[in-house]
Amino acid sequence: MTPEEAHSEATRLTDLIVSARDAYYGDDAEVVDDATYDGWMRALEDLERLYPEVQGQDSPTLTVGAAQSSLFAPVEHAERMLSLDNVFSEEEFLAWAAKVERDAGASVRYLCELKIDGLALSLRYERGVLTSAATRGDGRVGEDVTENVRYIPGIPARLAGTGHPDIVEVRGEVFFTVADFEALNAYQQSNGDRLFANPRNAASGSLRQKAEGKNERQLSAMRERLGRLRLTVHGIGAWSTPPVGSQSEVYELVATWGLPVSAHYRVVDSAREAADFIDYYGEHRHDVEHEIDGIVVKVDDLALHDELGATSRAPRWAIAYKYPPEQVNTKLEDIVVSVGRTGRATPFAVMAPARVAGSVVRQATLHNQEVVKAKGVLIGDTVVLRKAGDVIPEVLGPVVELRDGSERPFVMPTQCPECGATLAPAKEGDIDLRCPNARTCPAQVRGRVEHAGSRGALDIEGLGEVSAAALTQPVRPEVPPLTSEAGLFDLTPADLFGIDVVVRDAETGLPRLLDDGSPDTRSPFRRQRKKTDPPYESGGEFDGDATHIVSKAATELLRNIEEAKTRELWRFLVALGIRHVGPVAARELAQWFGSIDAIRSASREELAAVEGVGGIIADSLIDWFEVDWHREIVERWAGSGAQLSTPGHPGPGAAVVSGGVLDGVTVVATGTLEGYTREGAQEAILRAGGKAASSVSKKTDFVAAGPGARSKLAKAESLGVRIIDANQFKLLVEQGPEALEALAPDAG
Ligand code: IVH
Repeated sequence: MTPEEAHSEATRLTDLIVSARDAYYGDDAEVVDDATYDGWMRALEDLERLYPEVQGQDSPTLTVGAAQSSLFAPVEHAERMLSLDNVFSEEEFLAWAAKVERDAGASVRYLCELKIDGLALSLRYERGVLTSAATRGDGRVGEDVTENVRYIPGIPARLAGTGHPDIVEVRGEVFFTVADFEALNAYQQSNGDRLFANPRNAASGSLRQKAEGKNERQLSAMRERLGRLRLTVHGIGAWSTPPVGSQSEVYELVATWGLPVSAHYRVVDSAREAADFIDYYGEHRHDVEHEIDGIVVKVDDLALHDELGATSRAPRWAIAYKYPPEQVNTKLEDIVVSVGRTGRATPFAVMAPARVAGSVVRQATLHNQEVVKAKGVLIGDTVVLRKAGDVIPEVLGPVVELRDGSERPFVMPTQCPECGATLAPAKEGDIDLRCPNARTCPAQVRGRVEHAGSRGALDIEGLGEVSAAALTQPVRPEVPPLTSEAGLFDLTPADLFGIDVVVRDAETGLPRLLDDGSPDTRSPFRRQRKKTDPPYESGGEFDGDATHIVSKAATELLRNIEEAKTRELWRFLVALGIRHVGPVAARELAQWFGSIDAIRSASREELAAVEGVGGIIADSLIDWFEVDWHREIVERWAGSGAQLSTPGHPGPGAAVVSGGVLDGVTVVATGTLEGYTREGAQEAILRAGGKAASSVSKKTDFVAAGPGARSKLAKAESLGVRIIDANQFKLLVEQGPEALEALAPDAG
């Protein structure tokens, strides 16, 4: 079944179930027997388990009729709980707004808010006192969850303030924050209990627990879970004459009653601005503490709600803009092993192309053979693939129910797929297997050449994955490929043509595929001379060979490599790819010793004494320089004119140059900071004269945190260290701490 077929089957089953319920509660529709009804419910539950993306927030499986629902008493809503119509593109959204404005006959103000991925709840307050709480159910009749709701801290048993209506139904979404959801699943796992597929199912499961039959320990676990549920109010049900005129005023009023309303809503004057709000959260959906699956846009004026009315399912004055799902099912076509710069052999999932979180994903790392085993995936399985925003795609696990017997287990190869050497752990107890042939394994050489050219190392424009692959690939017998990074600075124009490469994905190391599934091959340096060609291409150079002309790209690459010979010393140190020596340690070492020779001659103690270096890095340096072919790289680079010492450096122990805007300031960067790679962020701190620390302590002045930040962020919060975002970070490294002080406290 394709995802599209699953979707239409889910809609068909939902319609059948809902009309059967309508019939049961007295509509004209035909009443069906219990077995048929149960069959539909089970089929829908199965389908949602197999294709989680088809489950809507108003799915019948989340409320009445689902597995444990018979345990809850039915509650009739005083006013029907409607659902929302969906749009999936800006075009559809603007078309909806245009119709609204046509029907309203005027310009319209919209209230934009987050579509929380949770469970709808209706709270009935009579003269300010909570009398019942019910799930949505089929919209007319829900489940009575009043007793459980009393344990949700954000839901007052009695409203604050005075002048409450006699009866009012407050509607909202119950949900877990992402952090609480993850903690809950970790707890489920530690108890050997079933994991929840998403925060919505977790909220539903938690709200619909029954106290009966539970022992003291189970009861307190149940209450602990309920205690972590949150509510955000997004509407009002039965309320004969609301004393306010707009949705936003409703929120302001219910907030005075002590009910939680969202901090993220905004009232705008046009559909265009609403579309901008949608765009903004499309980019920032992971900055919110709970999951969102879209944006809800509502007409703000309540009088217009009456005028526009509703269909049997949804109001015409509101619309849900749905973001692309972040979790989909796809076929695991193969598991292949790629070898990286350090020799680590990494299994990768190769999948049928799947659109998830707005991009097409084909590959995802499976880390190592133990992870493949733990995930329980077989080649040929349908797997659940998740990609949240900028986060690297992850295979969550197989959909076991969809196996047909043709699946086969992955077997970790014993030999390196590129050079045939026997794979082995680097040391006893390591899970990762490595190719031990560091010196000549083509995969490792390729990776090291690419690393040397990378931004955090020698920053050689044009020397990326494509050219590194081209340079290290044997193509023409008369021109041997680059078999070591040692030869990087000896390249000549003759080495740079006649080369076809398979373009590899930087993230996965696997051949990149074109949309038709064929490998992406390019010739970065090839330029066959055509009869009609002038002697040389504009910008290119004639190499003296009658049949070849070096392309402009190749000429530029050679020029850039030449230019890199005078890079700062620390960049050469990073380029050597010595374990643990990143830009931070490299800068300290370069500043202290002034030359690679001085580092090479230093004792372990001398190395370890350098600020930011320490014993582990010192050992790694000593080990590295002990290998003869490593020393040869340094010698050949020096012999080719690379500047491996800082001109004018007075020798080991010289004073560190200072005077940057971050002089004496310690900054920790964590998570994804927009506009910076991890190393780029560290480099920016160091360039400004600051200290880039890797862990948060009381001495830390700033923690720059982006999406994905976790423990360092938590530590910063607990120590009261100032936390800044990517924009503030940019300001900090460019202008120093004073520039931040100049900002208003809530700016940025
Ligand atoms: S308004 C009549 N606002 O989405 C209007 N609903 O897919 C009813 N939801 O059943 C809903 N966030 O459970 C509204 N900010 C929000 C929401 C929201 C989540 C849920 C709600 C609804 C479902 C429709």
